[in-house]
Order: sequence, then C-alpha cells, then structure tokens
Amino acid sequence: MSLPVLLPLLADGEFRSGQQLADALGVSRTAVWKQLNRFAQQTGVEIESVRGRGYRIPGGLDLLDRAAVEAALSPAAAGLLRELDIVAAIDSTNAELMRRAQAGASGGLACAAEQQSAGRGRRGRTWVSPFAGNLYFSLLWDFRSGAAALEGLSLAVGVAVARALAGACQVQPALKWPNDIQYGGAKLGGILLEMSGDADGACQVVVGIGINVAMPREAAGEIDQAWTDLRTLAPDCPSRSELLAALLNELLPLLAGFEAGGFAPWRDEWLALDAFAGVPVVLDTGARQMAGIARGVDERGALQLETTTGMQSVYGGEISLRGAG
Ligand code: BTN
Repeated sequence: MSLPVLLPLLADGEFRSGQQLADALGVSRTAVWKQLNRFAQQTGVEIESVRGRGYRIPGGLDLLDRAAVEAALSPAAAGLLRELDIVAAIDSTNAELMRRAQAGASGGLACAAEQQSAGRGRRGRTWVSPFAGNLYFSLLWDFRSGAAALEGLSLAVGVAVARALAGACQVQPALKWPNDIQYGGAKLGGILLEMSGDADGACQVVVGIGINVAMPREAAGEIDQAWTDLRTLAPDCPSRSELLAALLNELLPLLAGFEAGGFAPWRDEWLALDAFAGVPVVLDTGARQMAGIARGVDERGALQLETTTGMQSVYGGEISLRGAG
C-alpha cells in the first residue's frame, strides 16, 4: 500500500474540501474520493466525509515523519544508523529486515512501519498492528562472535526500551522475563529477536520492537491479554516520531557495545525493573511446565527459578503468575 500523498493534509483532523485536496494533488475530486476510500478500507482509519465541508480524519493522525525522527536523534545514534526506512505498510518489519539480511544487507538498518499485516509476536503469536496507532520497528545489527556472545541481549533491549519510555514519557515500565514491557501488569510492548547467519561466528540479529502508543479500540478486540498504551498512561507523551528517535537513541549504542560488555552491565537495572521478583510463577518452556518462585536473572540473563528441588537457571520459555488463568 502506498500512503496517499494527501494523507498529511488530513493528519491534523481538520476538514479539507475535496477541491482543496484535488488542487493540492493536481487530480480530480473523484480521484481524491477513490484514494481516500481505498485507504480507509485498507487501514480501518475512519475518514469522515460531510457534504459542503469535505473530508477529515476525526482525532487526526500522528504519522511517522522521517525529518522529525532524524532531528531528534542523538549524535551517537545518528552516527550508528546507516539507513532508516519508514514504510506505510508491510507484512512485518522483522520479516523485512530478515529478507534484507539474507539478500546481503549489513547492519545499521532500521525499518519502521505505520501498519503491519503479519506482525510477529513471540512463540508464533500475531502482533496486532493497526495503522498509525502504535510503534512497530526493527533494527538489523551485525555481530562477530555468534549466539553465545548475545546471551541476555533481549533482556538488555528491554532495559533500553524502559529507559527510553521513562525519558520520553515519564512512564516507568516494568519488565517481565524474558522481555515483555509491562505497566501495572498489562502489556505495553514486546520485543522479538531473530537471528540469521552462523550461530558460532558472524551473524546478524533483527531486533523487533512493538510499543502500544494509541491502540485503536477496534483493533484492541484482537488482543488476547491485558494491555495498555502510552496514550492512557501519559497523555502528554511526544509524537511517535520523537518516541521512535528516543528508542533508537537508547538501542543503537546498546547494540554497538553489547558484544564487548555483554548483559552483566545491564543486569542491575533489569533486576530493578523486574515485575516478577519473588513472585510464585509457572514456567512454560513449550516442552514442560515447572512451578517455582522467580528470583531474578543471572549475569547471562537466565531466569533464576527457585523450585522444590533447588535453584534452576532457565534460558527460554515464558512465565505466568501461578494460579492465574
Ligand atoms: C512479543 O510477542 O511480545 C513480541 C512482539 C514484537 C512485535 C514487534 S512489532 C515490530 C517487529 N516486527 C514484527 O513482526 N514483530 C516485531
């Protein structure tokens, strides 16, 4: 889907007449009507049409704006970012960067989308990705020393995301092992890391982040767990473009330094944000379930699960509150 060129003209939520839009684009009023209709069908965005007044998008749209993202990047992040793609719609920004990696692209790429048609969540779930509501983006990064050197990376990414949200919106999220972003027990965002290349040597990692910014209520019906969004928590939060820049400002330096420092320097901050510290949980690894008390993570990012048979270090799976559901 290509973003209708006239969309920025309607983004402020005010009425524009069909003639104004047609003049701005140099097309007929019928062409404007067709373009807006097609866009509304593809995205679910409401376009109000009132005889004598024209068209408007009730409430307006907070569109991603490359210039605004670039203007808010720190010098360090700007120096590490080789390319920033902002697209109207895509299957999944993670899938896109995995394709780019397989086609030979090197790291330092970011891809953000207004909408994903097949957003990927952890463990094969779908990530609900309505148009211009939330943030969906991925980063491609090169690593030299294989998977072992990347232990704990997804947890460190959680810390970086929490820092960015605290800095930009004064919202202090909590982290649920391994890498859910939560607030008050509800999901605010998620992280999905995918790897390609040699597990023992040179490899590339795609770091995908989804943050609920302003979840349209119609789309929320598809989400099967408690969720929240930044609009609810921090109505004065900056634009999605500034938020994206704030996230890149934390994430790019983390990725650049991770191979040298590993998770250890991030551990204390992760523990301070741990939503499940000391909580009775059930761990589901896919293959089996284990009950215990969550006791934080070790220097490699492994969950420390206190069980009746002693402390277990767990590297993969998902925890839930014991007794919940
Ligand atoms: C989770 O299940 O918690 C992880 C969700 C990750 C979603 C993001 S949205 C941007 C990127 N592209 C995807 O397809 N998924 C990630």
